Amino acid sequence: MSVTSVIGLQWGDEAKGKIVDLLTPEHDIVVRYQGGNNAGHTVQFRGETYKMSLLPTGILHPHCKAVVATGMVVNPKALLEELDDIVRRSGPVDNRLLISNRAHVVFPYHMEEEAVLEKRRQDEAIGTTMRGIGTCYRDKAGRTHGIRIGDLYYPETLRQRLRDIVTYKNTILQALDPDFQPLDADAIFDEYSGYAERMQPYVGDTTAFLLDALDQGKRILFEGAQGSLLDIDHGTFPYVTSSNSSGCGIHNGSGVPERAITRMIGVIKAYTTRVGGGPFPTELHDEIGQHIRDVGREYGTVTGRPRRCGWFDAVACRYSARLSGIDAIAVMLLDVLSQLDELCICEAYEIDGRRTTDFPAHVHELAKAKPVYRTLPGWKRDISHARKLDDLPAEARSYLETISQLVGAPITIVSVGPDREQTVMI
Ligand code: GDP
Ligand code: IMO
Ligand code: MG
Repeated sequence: MSVTSVIGLQWGDEAKGKIVDLLTPEHDIVVRYQGGNNAGHTVQFRGETYKMSLLPTGILHPHCKAVVATGMVVNPKALLEELDDIVRRSGPVDNRLLISNRAHVVFPYHMEEEAVLEKRRQDEAIGTTMRGIGTCYRDKAGRTHGIRIGDLYYPETLRQRLRDIVTYKNTILQALDPDFQPLDADAIFDEYSGYAERMQPYVGDTTAFLLDALDQGKRILFEGAQGSLLDIDHGTFPYVTSSNSSGCGIHNGSGVPERAITRMIGVIKAYTTRVGGGPFPTELHDEIGQHIRDVGREYGTVTGRPRRCGWFDAVACRYSARLSGIDAIAVMLLDVLSQLDELCICEAYEIDGRRTTDFPAHVHELAKAKPVYRTLPGWKRDISHARKLDDLPAEARSYLETISQLVGAPITIVSVGPDREQTVMI
């Protein structure tokens, strides 16, 4: 039985979408289990680009079932737009999509609330995607204001709850921001009733479905969103997302026990990127950083923001690989480094004059961390046509070996371009 997880080991955008797409043919079901439309997973196939946000990447494969599981926060408008686009471009979905009735719903007031909160933080803004993710998870944890997909099918209770919630949100947001325009609960109720009706054929108990699928020996693929360093508990708090985006989130986000997972694949870029605020020890503010941004097209899939770029950080990735129990690593975008004379890998931090390979728990410590680099020769050759390890220059192989050694797991996939074919399987 094959139950595989694909987890980002950095700050997101590691090219998890490409790996999930590559592994989908070996699986029957692909599951998203945390986050929402803050994710942007790119899949390129036969010259077509798909940017998946809420729907599992597996929906593109006609043999595969796609599950939006319990731990997600779902903006129904965004989900239905994405679904319409997929149906238009790649054919009907029919009974292949399942949406959890336990997943929480993102409402317009979540986006409004987030905008007000982020504005008030000024220089300390988290730099969120503004999709109402954190504010929806906050209402879930707070319980009083959380609304789940299943609640959309109890209209009379829903109408009353929305009136209570919207009154509360309007009061707070008007007090905090004089420009805030109050929301109308009944208008939201009408809008969401329409979404509920359209989603109904897909809504059900995904936990029961997945546990039955396990019993039947079905092959399941978990598609992690964001990256381990953005995990709410284990990441660079508060500059994180509001879900467990490391391997720790699979069990609570899907209901599938962790011991069922047979393979944990950690996805890393051959360098590091980060979008939004928060410390980033290996960040490059020079022309090399700009070169990586240009060659790697490092602009956000969701928001279009330029991504911050830097050298590969083995201290951070060793931490996240251990945290998520990674068995194998996929190294992505290696081709982006091809034109550089020398490459640096951060093998330790120096914090207050002390050298360490431990990843600090507090952002203030991480902000002080000075990277200790190991310098390696570059290869200055186009590697985008490599299909086996021997096709790669010795310098590129040595770069990969160093990463594997420092992170502490074998590399089994190397990606040398966005296309499915541009992959070296080891
Ligand atoms: P995800 O959120 O982890 O799925 O990653 P994103 O889709 O946000 O960002 C990864 C970007 O890198 C996408 O534009 C991919 O098409 C692209 N990509 C994936 N693998 C490679 C690769 O090996 N080389 C290059 N140059 N681009 C890649
Ligand atoms: P994928 O799945 C990269 C970042 C945001 C911000 C922080 C909190 O494509 O890898 P949020 O909107 O979640 O409250 O924002 O997390 N972030 C991501 N960065 N890739 C993502 O998803 C991200 N999802 C959220 O930029 O710094
Ligand atoms: Mg992305």
